[in-house]
Amino acid sequence: MKILAVYNIKGGVGKTTTAVNLAYLAAQKGLRTLVWDLDPQGAASFYFRIRQGIRGNMKKLMKGQRELADSIKATDFEKLDLLPADFTYRDMDILFDQEKKRTRQLLRLLRPLSEAYDLVVLDCPPSMSLISDNIFRATDLLLVPMIPTVLSVNAFHQLMQHIGPGVRKQLSMRAFFSIGDRRKSMHKEIMRTLPAEYAEVMDLMVPYNAQVERMGLERAPLLSYAPRSEVANAYQALWQEISRLIHMPLSYKKPG
Ligand SMILES: Nc1ncnc2c1ncn2[C@@H]1O[C@H](COP(=O)(O)OP(=O)(O)OP(=O)(O)O)[C@@H](O)[C@H]1O
Ligand SMILES: [Mg+2]
Repeated sequence: MKILAVYNIKGGVGKTTTAVNLAYLAAQKGLRTLVWDLDPQGAASFYFRIRQGIRGNMKKLMKGQRELADSIKATDFEKLDLLPADFTYRDMDILFDQEKKRTRQLLRLLRPLSEAYDLVVLDCPPSMSLISDNIFRATDLLLVPMIPTVLSVNAFHQLMQHIGPGVRKQLSMRAFFSIGDRRKSMHKEIMRTLPAEYAEVMDLMVPYNAQVERMGLERAPLLSYAPRSEVANAYQALWQEISRLIHMPLSYKKPG
């Protein structure tokens, strides 16, 4: 089982959109895929038409009174399951902090699922907290969507500082440009320069497209209702790169 975390400290950059669509593509390719909606706001659960989880769940999970597997729901799509968000995920930080190995709790909860799934996609909340440290520990690949704007780039510098050189060496991480617009000169400039500055930043962009916003009305992955759109092609290209990366040992250096 591989774990792919879609993460950014910044909100509204396309994390959930990416998690939902990549998971859909993975399942289509035949991988037994699970999306874990870690954001208490529950956007990924909403897109898959699944109601939020039960209250008090997190505490029971941590105490071993309940297994993660008990909360898994099937989606409308074959090979694609979901662990719905839960309001008690807001307490995740506090509960993890009470444990001895406080950064390994997410991995501990996921481990019993390792036979049942080929891929777990974590839709992460926008924060920098103990949960993020757990995510860094658990993930085989940290995927960071980033809008090519100055504030997004600032947040990316902050993230790299927070991760620090030690963890950076061990962490497999890639960033890509999300909601990009090549007609905007600032977007173009950032997309040209940032990949040269950071080995982790890929020269890959998912463009702005109003079709994506329809996900809220369709309540389904974009790839399921507009599979041949330009933005769908971009997600296909992203998935190809990600699937290549997660099936090989990763390092923080760019190949080639
Ligand atoms: N390529 C795109 N083109 C147009 N709109 C997009 C695109 N990607 C995402 N969006 C829209 O941008 C908004 C934010 O996207 P999304 O919810 O995926 O971000 P997020 O990083 O998960 O946000 P949050 O931090 O709140 O969880 C949504 O309304 C979504 O429909
Ligand atoms: Mg989100």
